[in-house]
Amino acid sequence: MSHENYESAMHRALELALLGPAWGVNPQVGCVILDANGQIIAEGWHRGAGTAHAEVDALSKLSQVPAGATAVVTLEPCNHTGRTGPCAQALIAAGVSRVVYAVADPGAESSQGAQTLRDAGVEVLGGVLESEASEQNRVWLTANRLQRPFVTLKWASSIDGRAAANDGTSKWISGPESRADSHQRRSEVDAILVGTGTILADDAALTARKPDGTLFEHQPLRVVIGNRDLPADARVFNDQAETMHLRTHSIHGILAALWAEGIKHVWVEGGPSVASQFARLGLVDEYIIYLAPLLIGGERTAIRDLGITSMPEAKRLKFVEMKQLGEDIFIRAIEERA
Ligand SMILES: NC(=O)c1ccc[n+]([C@@H]2O[C@H](COP(=O)([O-])OP(=O)(O)OC[C@H]3O[C@@H](n4cnc5c(N)ncnc54)[C@H](OP(=O)(O)O)[C@@H]3O)[C@@H](O)[C@H]2O)c1
Repeated sequence: MSHENYESAMHRALELALLGPAWGVNPQVGCVILDANGQIIAEGWHRGAGTAHAEVDALSKLSQVPAGATAVVTLEPCNHTGRTGPCAQALIAAGVSRVVYAVADPGAESSQGAQTLRDAGVEVLGGVLESEASEQNRVWLTANRLQRPFVTLKWASSIDGRAAANDGTSKWISGPESRADSHQRRSEVDAILVGTGTILADDAALTARKPDGTLFEHQPLRVVIGNRDLPADARVFNDQAETMHLRTHSIHGILAALWAEGIKHVWVEGGPSVASQFARLGLVDEYIIYLAPLLIGGERTAIRDLGITSMPEAKRLKFVEMKQLGEDIFIRAIEERA
């Protein structure tokens, strides 16, 4: 079978992976099984922690795997027994002849699946559409490599970089399309984090809502950081999602505590004081910025002091995605790290 054939099967596996939830401790994984002629005979994907892995889900669709079959999977098959059995063993037991995967598994417990397959005489080919698959699973891969939650820092600002007017009001800087996009993204993360300042200024509910105001099925954990007391009737304490108030300023400590709770992806919504600290400490893995065609001026910039005094020290970002959203510009950026 040709490499192009594996690539087109991997494209399908990558589409299937997205049917699983982006939130939760596990990665999104898709798998297709090809017969000896390269035709897709089964498809599977992972539906979240505690459910069948993509390979096992695909195999379950077949009463028997035909001779010469290939499993094409977006992540190296796992080698460990967690809540479900190891996928490498399941593929061997099913009699698959060849396994093609995109990205190696960085997990200490679950890696080495490729070696187990090879030892059992299964042909293994890794690295097919590796960059696409790494991009799709960047949150899970980065979190596991760094052993802390992946951090997205989001803000909405005027074109002159203001996150609020001088009186503290910030509703609404961005337009309805940006707000809908941001709520959709909230619904795909594990936790949403702000400082006490944002709750006291805005009484933000921090829920993930659809444009009609109804809640998404998955609601991230709400995390408020800072020492000040919050009113008991603040909207962030409503019963629409769980809330944690952490009375600390230690960003590293907060991330370690959230990682220990199984939080893979934290969405930081500010405000400017907290956002600046994350950026200053080099703890932002991805910036999401909604830039609105407004001029506000004044003191309330989206990012405050970063400890930078001269241009050579400026943090250099790279725009990895840009698009128009209604009247606004959506920017996804990463820090250029040495
Ligand atoms: N446009 C946007 O995207 C956006 C988003 C959010 C907020 N806002 C606006 O931002 C304004 C609020 O700004 P803000 O800076 O006060 O909000 P903030 O960053 O949410 O809260 C600041 C507070 O966070 C606590 N904190 C915890 N760890 C910290 C750390 N490591 N460093 C600094 N502070 C830490 C401190 O509270 P304690 O004093 O209690 O310890 C601090 O006073 C409002 O006007 C709001 O409307 C705009």
